[in-house]
Amino acid sequence: VRIEWDVNAAEKGGYEHFMLKEMYEQPKAITDTFSPRIKDGKIVIDELNMTDEEIKAINKIMIVACGSAYHAGVTSKYVFEGLSRIPVEVDVASEFRYRNPILEEGTLVVVISQSGETADTLAALRESKARGAKVLGIVNVVGSSIAREADNVMYTWAGPEIAVATTKAYSAQLISLYLLAMKFAYVKGEIDDTVLSDMLEDLKSLPAQVEMLLNNKQKIQRFANRYLAARDIFFIGRGIDYAISMEGSLKLKEISYIHSEAYAAGELKHGTISLVEEGTLVASVLTQKELYKKMISNMVEVRTRGAFVMAVTMEGNTEVERAADYVIYIPETNKYFTNSLAIIPLQLFGYYVSVGRGCDVDKPRNLAKSVTVE
Ligand code: G6P
Repeated sequence: VRIEWDVNAAEKGGYEHFMLKEMYEQPKAITDTFSPRIKDGKIVIDELNMTDEEIKAINKIMIVACGSAYHAGVTSKYVFEGLSRIPVEVDVASEFRYRNPILEEGTLVVVISQSGETADTLAALRESKARGAKVLGIVNVVGSSIAREADNVMYTWAGPEIAVATTKAYSAQLISLYLLAMKFAYVKGEIDDTVLSDMLEDLKSLPAQVEMLLNNKQKIQRFANRYLAARDIFFIGRGIDYAISMEGSLKLKEISYIHSEAYAAGELKHGTISLVEEGTLVASVLTQKELYKKMISNMVEVRTRGAFVMAVTMEGNTEVERAADYVIYIPETNKYFTNSLAIIPLQLFGYYVSVGRGCDVDKPRNLAKSVTVE
């Protein structure tokens, strides 16, 4: 008997694509990233190499990254500022390195990179160090250039990622950033033991919640199949939900080649709404209770112009059904962690549009997993 042995298929562990396999590895990537850093109900990040006094002295955080890592950074701006009250700037590395950034005493630079080899991010790190700033790397590949050159490294324990479109490394980046923000907030006395322990409970629930959302994949696939011929798809949100929209939009466009954009929902009426036609899909993300009403009115605005409105929102927000044609509910979590859940249906949506269109899901045209040249 001749046994056919397909190495590629074996590595994919029965999944059709690396991207799907890696999406399914997200619960583990999340757990592996937080569990070594929670000890006796406290957050311990030894690799930070910072005393509490040094943490208290941070007066500004500058986050620098490219692509999805940049989107994780944008999400974390809301988390750091909301929890720790430290002001945060987020830049794409190719901009940061040439903009003569102001790095003063007390500025912490955080560079985020899955590969640890992205040329612009590495250059931004070198530029920051040359200007005397302390650089913390959040990196997935152990021993990579950014890991070696940063003053300190906090690894995301996502394991090797093969698909060009990142999923599990992005999810692990979010977890690292939540941990840092909670740590800083706690040390600064902005959150107390009760808040911290509630947040840690919610953090520990994320892997099972992600798993549950992944298991809804057939429903998302059916929905995605209706949009295989779409010309434009828009994603809207406010606050953290705007950051989620940016990542949802990138996932879709990079692997399906459908034009898509993410907008801060309130900005739509300043131009973009003119692109909405009969049947245009507008994916709306609304996970922040205090912004529900504002989002719903934006959804009504686009729907009145003929948009088909899809919503990703928290369980219980049935009010949304007034303004949406299709709703995906995600389970309750801390308001700073919603990205980790809301991104799952959006990853699945991008994935199934790409599959349905017959695209090369794991190796999209013109893109590289790691961009080591400028
Ligand atoms: C490429 C990849 C993206 C990634 C970005 C940054 O564009 O296709 O998925 O987010 O580079 O890569 P890094 O390795 O620095 O996270």
